[in-house]
Amino acid sequence: TKTLKQLAKPTGVRIGTAVDTAALADDATYASAVAKQFNTITPENVMKWEVVEPERGKLDFTEADKLVDFARAHKQKVRGHTLVWHSQLPAWLTKGVDDGSITKKQLRRILKQHIATEVGHFKGDIWAWDVVNEAFNDDGTLRDSLWLRELGPGYIADAFRWAHKADKKAILFYNDYNTEGINPKSDAVYKLVKELRSEGVPIEAVGVQGHLSTDYPLPADMQANLHRFGKLGLKTAVTEADVRITLPASAAEVQAQDNGYSYMLQSCLLERSCISFTVWGFTDKYSWIPGVFPGEGQANLYDESYQPKSAYAAVQRDL
Ligand code: XIL
Repeated sequence: TKTLKQLAKPTGVRIGTAVDTAALADDATYASAVAKQFNTITPENVMKWEVVEPERGKLDFTEADKLVDFARAHKQKVRGHTLVWHSQLPAWLTKGVDDGSITKKQLRRILKQHIATEVGHFKGDIWAWDVVNEAFNDDGTLRDSLWLRELGPGYIADAFRWAHKADKKAILFYNDYNTEGINPKSDAVYKLVKELRSEGVPIEAVGVQGHLSTDYPLPADMQANLHRFGKLGLKTAVTEADVRITLPASAAEVQAQDNGYSYMLQSCLLERSCISFTVWGFTDKYSWIPGVFPGEGQANLYDESYQPKSAYAAVQRDL
C-alpha cells in the first residue's frame, strides 16, 4: 500500500506535517514516518521568535537548521513558521515593550531586523513562509496584539515587504485559524489581501490552519472560500489541520473526525490554488491539543502507538 506522499504526488498538492524536533531526534519511529509519509514539513516551534532569539541579539538556529537538513536529506520542502505573531515572543521583547525600554521606533527596527535575519538565514531553503500569523479576531477586527498597538495596522504590509526583500523566491503567506469557511474572519482576511495586492505588497498566498473540533459544525463553503482567494491570483494551503475530540471519543465523533479531515482535504484537492495540505502533527503521541484544550485530544491521523486511525484511511482514500 502506498504512503501519503506517494498518493499525493499525482495530485500536485503536497502533503505535510508539523514536526516536533525533539521527537525527530529521539524517536526513530516518528522520524521514519515523517520521512516516508510527507513531502513537506513545518517546524512546530523551532522557527518561532522565542526559540531563534532567546536573548536579544543572540540568534540560535540550531534546531531549525537540523529540521532543514532533515528535509533536504528526504527531498522535502519546508514551510517556514512563523515570522510575525503575537504569541511565543521572546521575554526580552515583550518585557522591553511593557517597561518602555523598547520604543515604537525601536520596535519597528527590531521587527525589520528579525525578518531580514531569519529569512536571510534560511534563504533558498524555505519553500513558503508564514509571514504574518493570526492577525485577526473571529469578528474580523484586527487582533489587539503588541504589533497592532505599537506599530499600527501597517505592520502587516511592512512584514511582507521585508520578507520579500530577504528572499525573493519563498512563497509568502498570511496564515490564520477559523478562516477555513466563509465567515466574518475570512471576509476580513479577503479584504486585507485584496487591498495589499492592489498596493503591490508582495503577498502571494493565504493559509487556513484547519484546527477543527468535532464539537462544532464543519466550516461552511471551504472550497468556495479557497476559490475566492484563488481568483485574486493567490495560492492557498491548509497549513495546520487537526480535528480534536472531547474525550472519551464516541463512534460518532470518530466518524465526524474522519469527515473533518476529508472535507478539508477535498476542499484543497478540488481548488486549483491549493498547493499543500499540512497536518499539525500526525500522531496522538505528540499533540499540542491536550495541553491547550483540556479534556480534548485524539486529533491526529495515527494513535499514540503509531497505528493509523480511520482518519488516516479517509485521507488515503481521498488522495
Ligand atoms: C503550537 C504548538 O503546536 C505548541 O507546541 C506550542 O506550545 C504552541 O503553539 N497556531 C499556530 C501554531 O500557528 O504555531 C500553534 O502551534 C498552534 C496554533
